[in-house]
Amino acid sequence: MEGEVTVHGAKNSALPILAACLLSGGECTLHNCPRLSDVDATLKILRHLGCRVKREGGTVIVHAQSVTGKEIPDTLMREMRSSIVFLGAILARMGEARLSFPGGCELGPRPIDLHLAALKKLGVQIREDHGCLHCSAKHGLRGKRIHLAFPSVGATENVMLAAVLAKGTTILTNAACEPEICDLADFLNACGAKIQGAGDSTISIQGVSRLHGCEHTIIPDRIVAATLLSAAAVTHSRVLLRRVEPVHLESILSVFEEAGCQFRCEGKELEILPPAILQAVKHVRTMPYPGFPTDAQAPVMPVACLAKGTSVFVENIFENRYKHVGELVRLGASIKVEGRVAVVEGVSRLSGTAVQAADLRGGAALTVAGLAAEGITQVWGVNYIDRGYESLEGMLHALGANITRIS
Ligand code: EPZ
Repeated sequence: MEGEVTVHGAKNSALPILAACLLSGGECTLHNCPRLSDVDATLKILRHLGCRVKREGGTVIVHAQSVTGKEIPDTLMREMRSSIVFLGAILARMGEARLSFPGGCELGPRPIDLHLAALKKLGVQIREDHGCLHCSAKHGLRGKRIHLAFPSVGATENVMLAAVLAKGTTILTNAACEPEICDLADFLNACGAKIQGAGDSTISIQGVSRLHGCEHTIIPDRIVAATLLSAAAVTHSRVLLRRVEPVHLESILSVFEEAGCQFRCEGKELEILPPAILQAVKHVRTMPYPGFPTDAQAPVMPVACLAKGTSVFVENIFENRYKHVGELVRLGASIKVEGRVAVVEGVSRLSGTAVQAADLRGGAALTVAGLAAEGITQVWGVNYIDRGYESLEGMLHALGANITRIS
C-alpha cells in the first residue's frame, strides 16, 4: 500500500453533539459529520423526538425548535446503547424522559450507575421498572457539585447536557478528559453555554436560560487514525493521513514508535514510515485519556501479532474486549488471554481464512490483520465495522489495498 487518505469526523464526538442539538432553539450546522450507521441511528432518534434533520454531504443540519418527544423507544435504544447520552439532553429540554435500560453490548455489561447517580444529584427523580427508566425533574434541574467515581465519558457528557440549562452552576470533578468532551463543550459554548475546564478533570457548567444555534466542525476520529496507522505498519507502507489532530494521538504514536515506526508531522497531516521489521511493544495499557485509548487496543493488536518479540496488552477499561483474539489466532497469531491481559508472541506470518467480527473495533482489527495475511481473508460482520468507519474498505482501497466488500 502507499498514498494519502483523509480521516473522517469522530463518531464519539458526533453522537453527543447531535444529542446536544436538542437543547438549541435555533439551527445547528455540523460539518465533518461522518456517514456511519451509529450516526444514522442518532438522526433517527432526533427525528423521532420532533427535530427536522437533513444531511448535505458531510454536513448535517438540525432544527430542534419543535421538539415534543420525551421517549426513546426500545427498538431505537437497542440499535445503539450509547443513546443513553440523550437522557441528559431530553431532561434538560423537556423536564422528563423515558427510555429503556440500555442492554449490554458486545463489550460486556454497559452499566449506567454513574450516569443515574449524577443526574439524581441535579434533581432528577428516576424510577426503573420493566426495563424502562422513567425520569423526571418536576422542580427543574439545579446545579450541584458532582464527583464521578470513574471518569466515564458518557456520564461526563450526560452531566454536561443536563446541567447546561440548569439553575445555578454545576462543578463536575473526576470528569473524563477525552478530546470528544472538549468538542462537545466547544459546540455547547458556541450555542451560548458557559462551560469551562473541559479537557481537565474538573469542569464547571454555569446554567443559562436558553441556547441558540451554531455552526461547528467535528474533530477528526483518532481511532480511525490509529486503525489506518496500524494498516500501514503491518503492510510496511508509507502512508500520509490528512486532517488529523496529532495532539490527540500522542499515546497512540508512542506505541507505534516503540514498534519502530517513524513519523513526519506537519499541521494536520501525519506521515508514517514503518520499519522493515516491527518490534514488540512491552506494555500497552488502556487508560482514560490521555492514556492509550481502549478503542485502539484491538485495531493496534495486529502490529504486535507481526512484531519481533512479545507484547503485553492490559485492557483496564472494559471487562470483555478481547473477542477479536480468537479470530486473530485463526489467522495464525499467537496470543494468550488471562482476564484483562493479552500476551502476544510475534509471528513471522499470518495466513488468510474466514473470520467473524464480534464488535466494531474487533472487526477493524481483523480487517487490518487480513491486509498482512497471506492469501484471502474474509471478514464477516461488516455491519459492526460500519458503525464506526465510513467505508473502511474504501479508505484502504484508496491506499492500494486489495480489498472489496461482498454485499
Ligand atoms: C465511550 O463509551 C465511547 N462511546 C466508547 O467507544 C469508548 O470505548 C469509551 O467511551 C471509553 O473511552 C461513545 O463515546 C459513544 P465509559 P462509554 O462510560 O461512555 C464503566 C467505540 O468503540 N461505567 O467511559 O460507554 C463502563 O462499564 C466505543 O467507539 C460504569 O461502570 O464509556 C466501562 O467499563 C466503544 N458505570 C468504563 O466505565 C457507568 O455509569 C468506561 O465507560 C458508566 C461507565
